[in-house]
Order: sequence, then structure tokens, then C-alpha cells
Amino acid sequence: MVTEIQTDLATEVEKRRNFAIISHPDAGKTTLTEKLLLYGGAIHEAGAVKARRAQRHATSDWMAMEQQRGISITSTVLQFEYDNCWINLLDTPGHQDFSEDTYRTLAAADNAVMLEDAAKGLEPQTRKLFEVCRMRSIPIFTFFNKLDRPGRDPFELLDEIEQELGLQTYAVNWPIGMGDRFKGVFDRRQRQIHLFERTAHGSRAATDTIVELGDPRIEELLEQDLYYKLKEDLEVLDAVGAEFDLEKIHQGQLTPVFFGSAMTNFGVKLFLESFLDYALKPSPRRSTLGEVQPTDPEFSGFVFKLQANMDPKHRDRIAFIRICSGKFEKDMVVNHARSGKTVRLSHPQRLFGQERESLVEAYAGDVIGLNNPGVFAIGDTIYSGKKLEFEGIPMFSPELFAYLKNPNPSKFKQFRKGVSELREEGAVQIMYSVDEAKRDPILAAVGQLQFEVVQFRLLSEYGVETRVDPLPFSVARWVGGGWEALERVGRLFNTVTVKDSWGRPVLLFRNEWNCQQVEGEHPELNLKSSAPVVSGQEPESL
Ligand code: G4P
Repeated sequence: MVTEIQTDLATEVEKRRNFAIISHPDAGKTTLTEKLLLYGGAIHEAGAVKARRAQRHATSDWMAMEQQRGISITSTVLQFEYDNCWINLLDTPGHQDFSEDTYRTLAAADNAVMLEDAAKGLEPQTRKLFEVCRMRSIPIFTFFNKLDRPGRDPFELLDEIEQELGLQTYAVNWPIGMGDRFKGVFDRRQRQIHLFERTAHGSRAATDTIVELGDPRIEELLEQDLYYKLKEDLEVLDAVGAEFDLEKIHQGQLTPVFFGSAMTNFGVKLFLESFLDYALKPSPRRSTLGEVQPTDPEFSGFVFKLQANMDPKHRDRIAFIRICSGKFEKDMVVNHARSGKTVRLSHPQRLFGQERESLVEAYAGDVIGLNNPGVFAIGDTIYSGKKLEFEGIPMFSPELFAYLKNPNPSKFKQFRKGVSELREEGAVQIMYSVDEAKRDPILAAVGQLQFEVVQFRLLSEYGVETRVDPLPFSVARWVGGGWEALERVGRLFNTVTVKDSWGRPVLLFRNEWNCQQVEGEHPELNLKSSAPVVSGQEPESL
């Protein structure tokens, strides 16, 4: 018998949608996010997100670095309601040096929006993040932005995605004109033309005039050449373009494509509405107990991100949890898979960027923030009911390595605490030399800025001045065969062996070529470019 509680749960899960935006810096992610919030009614005037940012900078010390550099380091979650759907937008940092953070966030997302500048097409950071989405086979929605500027031919842009990413495309809407003559888009679902009017700075929703394709008013509303071009384009699309196929979208094989301009709000509402129709609702997650269904009444979730000291006045630590099944209730007591202990989930928070409000309940598909008094690590599973663990979140292969030195022995305790907490938060990976005499931790990062953030935070939050001594390596490989395989192989040239925070062997190479050589000569080492965060075991202490 289906109980009332189960029906409620199913209805709530049905309403949930979540996604992350992947893009190259400057494609317009902040602008699009802001416009989605504007249409979602979460903010009333665009510009508010930037204002919030400014506010945040006024209260946060280490994030002052973001301001100085004009970069966004932290990723946050924005939640809003639209058309009876509850949307979780998992924001990711824009700078490529923080791709590992983006990577973890993508592990919590059911859908991705690939945002591209229509004048540029595919850019390196987007390609890299696309690969991560492909690994998880999640649906990818493409939004070509900045059509209000001269851009590349839309057919050419579709072709690039098909050829280079091996992804089929289906244009859901099609641009009418471009640059100064960008008038609107054609909605292929409803076969209607949407003509927009520009508003000052796009701070309000764009006025949208909708006309059917054969409507005689078109002649007054649209210049003739643009109308003929549109008809011609549509014929080509209908003749050679892929068929719409929701199944393929959900399997990540076909991307629905949208054209628009986030700045002037053209096409944003249409995009949002189609997204809500086509996006994957919270989906089952693989675990040690098999697939966990979101409508399973037992609560479960995993930690995908930790963030400390968002507000320096409180020195708080927040764990971001993706709920995978069931209903979350404030103060519920759940099991923590790694430690085997129980934890009370008190002070849960609904997140809106850096702002938080207390929350009483949440459902599968939602992301919530919990105070983390040092209990949670990235990848941890929490559950009620039968013991289960979700798949670990892989660590990114670092490309930069450096010894982190603490020149002041009297600060050793603070240094150790700081390094351990930043490691736990995933701000940087920590490795160690196998040589017992070399006790300094090795920072392993994807980008230089991660080093700077670590040093900055150690100083501002733990009062420790540090020095970074770079190491001449650029490739790391985990030895899948373990220490025994390494021992059997014996001495290796052009590489050093270190151990990660869990004591697992990692080889560091100067370059890709050295790595390939060792890989070719010793397949038994089973070299891997990433390794899962180990659960069920605490990392080795410093
Ligand atoms: P990001 O988060 O992906 O890095 O991009 P962001 O939204 O910050 O946008 C990068 C720049 O592109 C901004 O200009 C923004 O105004 C502009 N932009 C975003 N969407 C559009 C669009 O649809 N059309 C046009 N023409 N420009 C767009 P900026 O000069 O760097 O900053 P600002 O002074 O405008 O804030």
C-alpha cells in the first residue's frame, strides 16, 4: 500500500531540478545566473548578485582575495522556485585553477548547462568540464550567449559541438538576426517567434512579443531579410538536424541548444522553461547497496563540498550535502558511514549564495548546508536505515607540486591544524615524501592560485606565515597496483614516489612523456590519473 508520506515524497521529488553551469571564464555565467534568478523571482532586479558579492566581501577576510583578483573561488548554491519547480543551481568557481571544486560540484548535479560565448564557440575550460559531465553521462543543455554581439554562424556552432564533442544537437530555439540586429528567437517547440525589446541594462525582464510563423503582422514587426533568412534556416534545420529525443537528452547523447543574450534577457525565459521540461529529475545513485531511488523513504545523502570560514565572525565550517533519497528533517539523527557513529543534523541551512536561512525540511535532489564540527569529509555518506555508501568523488590529477614550509617552529600546532583543515576541505591535496626525514607536506594543486589561497588562509585564519618551495613535476599518477607492485618493479628513472594523505603510492613525473614511458614499460603498475577519496578510513595525520 502506498502511504500518504510516500505520495508526498514522490510529489516533492518530482518538483526538484538541479544543475550546474559549466563555462569558460567570461562567457557570462554570472550574468546568466543572475537572469535566471530574476525570472525565478528570487531577486527583483538584476545587479543584486553583484551587490551581494560586494556585501560578502565586506564581511569576509580571505575572500578579499577574490575581490583583489576579480575571480570567484568558492562555489555556492542558489535555490529558487519557478512554475511549481524547486530549482537548485549549483554555482561553480569561474577560475580554472579551482576546477577540482567544480568537479566535485558536478558530482552532485543531475544536469549541466554548457554556456558558450557565440563569438568564440568551444573554449578550453568548457571542453575540460564537458569531459567530466560525459564521464557521468548527465544531460547537457547548451546556451549560446551574447547574440547581441556579432558572433559565429549558428550552424557552424552546432557543427563544432557535434564534431568536437561527439554530441548530437537539437536547436530548441533559433536566433533571428545577430549583433545590433538581434531581434529575438524562434521557438521550435511551439513554432512561434519571440521578439524582444531591449530594456536598460537588462535589469528587468525583456518585453516579449509572440507571433505565429504565418502571422501577417510579421511583415511590420520584422525586417524582410531577417524573416526570409529565418525561414531558410528553419528549412535546413528541419531537413538535416537531429530529431528531438528526450531519452537521448537524458542519456547525455543529445544536447538541446538555445541561443540568446543573458545581458539583454533575450531567450532566458524560454531557456528556463524548456530546461524545466526536459531536465532530468533527481535520479538514482549508485551505492554499495545498488541503486538508491530518490523516492526511497529512507534518508541518504553525501558530502560533496566543505567550506570553512565563510563568515569570519563565526569561524564556521559548512558541509554541503546532496540529498539522494528520502526526506530530510531538522534535528534528525542519521548514521555517518565512515565513522560508524550517529550524528544529529542540527542547524540545517537553505543556501542562497553566501546567505543562509534555517530550514526545516528538504527532499531528494536538494542541496543543504550543515554545520560541520569536523565530522564530515568530502565524499562521506550519511543515511538512515540500512548501511550504504555512495561512490567516492575522485580527486583531480594535480599538475603543480610544492613543499609547504613553516619557518617558525613555535607555530607548528597552528600550521598542522590549518593544513589538516584545508586538506579536509579539499582546498588543496596534500602528499608526503616517502623519505622520513622530509616532514614538510607537499601541496598538490591543479592551479597556482590554489597555493596562494592556502598561504593566504593559513596566515589570515591560523596566523601562520608559510613558504612555498616549488617542485619540478607536472604529472601525478596513483599506482593502482599498490606498494607491492612498485617494489616488484624496482628502481624507476625520471620519477619520484610520494604518498597521498591515505598513504597510497603516487608517482610524480616531470612531464607527460616520462609518464607514458613508465606506463608503457610497466603496465603492472596500473597507473591512474585520479583516485577516489577513501572513505571508512581517516587520512594519515601530519
Ligand atoms: P563569467 O561569470 O562567465 O566570467 O562572465 P560574466 O557574467 O561576468 O560576464 C563576462 C562579461 O560578459 C561581462 O562584461 C558581462 O557584462 C558580459 N556579458 C554577459 N552576457 C552578455 C551578453 O549576453 N551580451 C554581451 N554583450 N555581454 C555579455 P564585463 O565588461 O566584463 O563586465 P560588466 O562591466 O558588464 O559587468
